Amino acid sequence: MHKPGLSRLVALLKQCTSVQRNSVLRLAALMIVTAGSVGCSQSEQPDSRIVPAVSEAELRPGGNATTSLMPFPSFDKLAPSLPDVDKPDFHAGRALARQPWVKAPTITDARDGLGPVYNARACLACHVRGGKGLIPADSQTPLFSGLVKMSIPVKTGDDIEWLPEPTYGEQLQTQSVALQHQLRLSNPVEMVAAGQVAPEAYAYIQWQQHTFTYPDGTIVTLRQPSLDLQHLAYGDMHAETAFSLRNAPMIQGMGLLEMIPEEAIQALADPDDQDQDGISGRVNQVLDIRTGELAPGRFGLKANKASINEIVAGAFANDLGISNPLFPEQPCTSAQIDCLKQPDGNGTAHEDSGFELPDHLLQLVIRFTNNLGVPKRRNADDADVQAGRSLFYQSGCASCHQPSFQTASAEQAVSPELTHLANQTIWPYTDLLLHDMGPDLADHRPDGDASGSEWRTAPLWGIGLSAQVNGSRNLLHDGRAQTIEEAILWHGGEASAVRQRFVALDSQQRQQLLAFVRSL
Ligand code: HEC
Ligand code: HEC
Repeated sequence: MHKPGLSRLVALLKQCTSVQRNSVLRLAALMIVTAGSVGCSQSEQPDSRIVPAVSEAELRPGGNATTSLMPFPSFDKLAPSLPDVDKPDFHAGRALARQPWVKAPTITDARDGLGPVYNARACLACHVRGGKGLIPADSQTPLFSGLVKMSIPVKTGDDIEWLPEPTYGEQLQTQSVALQHQLRLSNPVEMVAAGQVAPEAYAYIQWQQHTFTYPDGTIVTLRQPSLDLQHLAYGDMHAETAFSLRNAPMIQGMGLLEMIPEEAIQALADPDDQDQDGISGRVNQVLDIRTGELAPGRFGLKANKASINEIVAGAFANDLGISNPLFPEQPCTSAQIDCLKQPDGNGTAHEDSGFELPDHLLQLVIRFTNNLGVPKRRNADDADVQAGRSLFYQSGCASCHQPSFQTASAEQAVSPELTHLANQTIWPYTDLLLHDMGPDLADHRPDGDASGSEWRTAPLWGIGLSAQVNGSRNLLHDGRAQTIEEAILWHGGEASAVRQRFVALDSQQRQQLLAFVRSL
């Protein structure tokens, strides 16, 4: 691997077309990995496949927001850089994210308003200890910590617009506050007939399995989910409904991701694949509800939300059925009469009442989410992990799983509450961009600018701790992969060539690459 001096760099750039030159300069300016070399892509390896020198900073993926593994690793720990004066708010926010909400009315306004239909009673019931959800491995256990999203295609002129399913809305709520449901005495269809507020349906997963065989004969079993909706309370859904099954992701490091400068994300995008590496990467431009302007989506599995404020407030409204100043509606559609008739949990005691969750409590949960630290790396010195690190870059994983970023300066921070996360080198292993992952991973349901086969590159930080934190081994958007190896084997579309390189490694090299990913 050569490390060109400035004169070599200039010579290299002279051989490039202007488009390549721009992208080289852009990358050279952007890369904060202590990189080896740059060059134009047709004559040289793309930058992301060059193995950078090991940096001490890799041991602390969250920079000064890196958390200890003692007494146990977890993804809902406080970022140590949070100033002492703000720590009580973090803890209050975590208590609100953990506490089970109850049906209204109760004697206390502070924790009622659940539903009338909902998916879970608490944020951390799905994101247990801040980690991933558990997707049932059998077809009899109801889906709990995943969500089902629904839309229908509607023709407007020459365009197709995707709108929420008319009777059930954009998200399937599988729980309701009705006692009949709580005690599992009757099913949703019977509850509607009896005039009770019914869950919209019960959701189960059926798994289809197939095997994959490596050139060396090693066999891996892969499974693919299909959704099995039972007891649809209001009859069949629209015939053209597209469904998206999404497992709850890890939520550590959210504030750090929000602190990545917009320009750094834009600089990695290559929508027309001008560097011809087969990997494009698009920004999901979405409306930022804070500014009313378009901004890159960073959050959600299709990067369809621009801010933590929106994802937290949206989760309260849709996942818990708790109305709030950003989303004042109950999760009932106009077809769901009994749902609309239920009492709400709007308090009267607060000056900002009128919502089940007043603004000051919403802000506490946003603070909690903003200030989740990232667990430190393990086993980085292990020889296999080091060899795997090289293979990770050489195979091209880093083309999408962008290892590191520099967070914005305090002056550039979107909110003054994030300034302690400024100027950090962080290692999330994602470019936060959308990539076409091919037909096997497609949900065929567009979301914002994202197509049915595009997904946001999943951050890999902390991934090796997932099972230890809360028992979840479910990887990929719908939890189908149960190991890192299975997740890689499902990569297709833009990642096909990279997957092929992984498949072509010998068994020892594959184990080394997997050991590296597990050490993140
Ligand atoms: C029923 C399970 C469930 C509950 C309850 C739930 N979530 Fe989530 N959460 C999800 C799923 C599924 C996603 C992915 C959503 C998507 O892609 O559209 C998600 C996404 C997120 C993200 C974005 C993560 C990322 O990587 O972009 C954050 C942050 C988050 N949830 C926080 C919360 C908070 C705070 C609450 C409580 C107000 C909450 N969630 C309640 C399932 C849940
Ligand atoms: C073209 C871009 C691209 C390349 C190249 C790529 N990935 Fe991914 N990766 C993604 C996207 C997008 C997802 C999310 C897919 C989904 O959820 O269905 C993902 C998901 C994953 C996951 C699952 C993470 C989780 O939390 O569920 C792992 C593990 C992973 N990738 C590892 C790798 C490794 C190792 C390589 C190199 C061999 C690689 N990826 C190459 C884009 C890419």
